[in-house]
Amino acid sequence: MIELKKLSKVFDSTSGSVEALRDVDLTINDGEIFGIIGLSGAGKSTLVRCINLLERPSSGQVLIDGQDMTALSRPELLKMRRSISMIFQGFNLLEQRSVLKNVCFPLEISGVKRQAAEKKTLELLKLVGLEEKADKYPAQLSGGQKQRVAIARALATDPSICCATRPPAPWTPTPPALSWSCCAPSTRPWA
Ligand SMILES: Nc1ncnc2c1ncn2[C@@H]1O[C@H](COP(=O)(O)OP(=O)(O)OP(=O)(O)O)[C@@H](O)[C@H]1O
Ligand SMILES: [Mg+2]
Repeated sequence: MIELKKLSKVFDSTSGSVEALRDVDLTINDGEIFGIIGLSGAGKSTLVRCINLLERPSSGQVLIDGQDMTALSRPELLKMRRSISMIFQGFNLLEQRSVLKNVCFPLEISGVKRQAAEKKTLELLKLVGLEEKADKYPAQLSGGQKQRVAIARALATDPSICCATRPPAPWTPTPPALSWSCCAPSTRPWA
């Protein structure tokens, strides 16, 4: 379960401050797929980034299964983050690595043996319909295909929470555009 309590975030800079989040209270239960819709710049990505403390809130609490993320030590936070995956707005794929190696990457850094990592990766690529692109590089993929690689990569370590922000949509007709972010604490298969 994810609980946000009176969560606020202010970005300070020399040119002034931006209040991105103010007193957000939110509960997302296990198994729930939760979408956040709002105008561009409304604070959706900031809110999602606060969940695993990629962005540290200015005030308020982030509780994951009752554990206050803001109270964790650095090593405890790094451990907790392993169970929370993120699909970033720009996907953040590694351009020098093939699709297979991109999806393998989180498994590699968590010490999974190469053969097991590749087996898992191929299953995930099948799940997202990209098994034939395993040897391609991100530059050879469409935007939607890149997004699916990012989804496969986010699921590689069987996270208990998956957070996603929508891809940039410069084609949206009338700015400011409505867009979405979502969080899903889940242990369910994603097929
Ligand atoms: N690192 C930062 N420093 C200063 N201001 C920031 C920073 N990150 C975000 N902001 C500001 O905080 C506000 C919320 O930004 P955020 O990225 O959360 O919006 P969003 O709802 O995800 O928008 P979009 O739909 O366009 O992705 C915006 O006004 C943005 O300019
Ligand atoms: Mg955003």
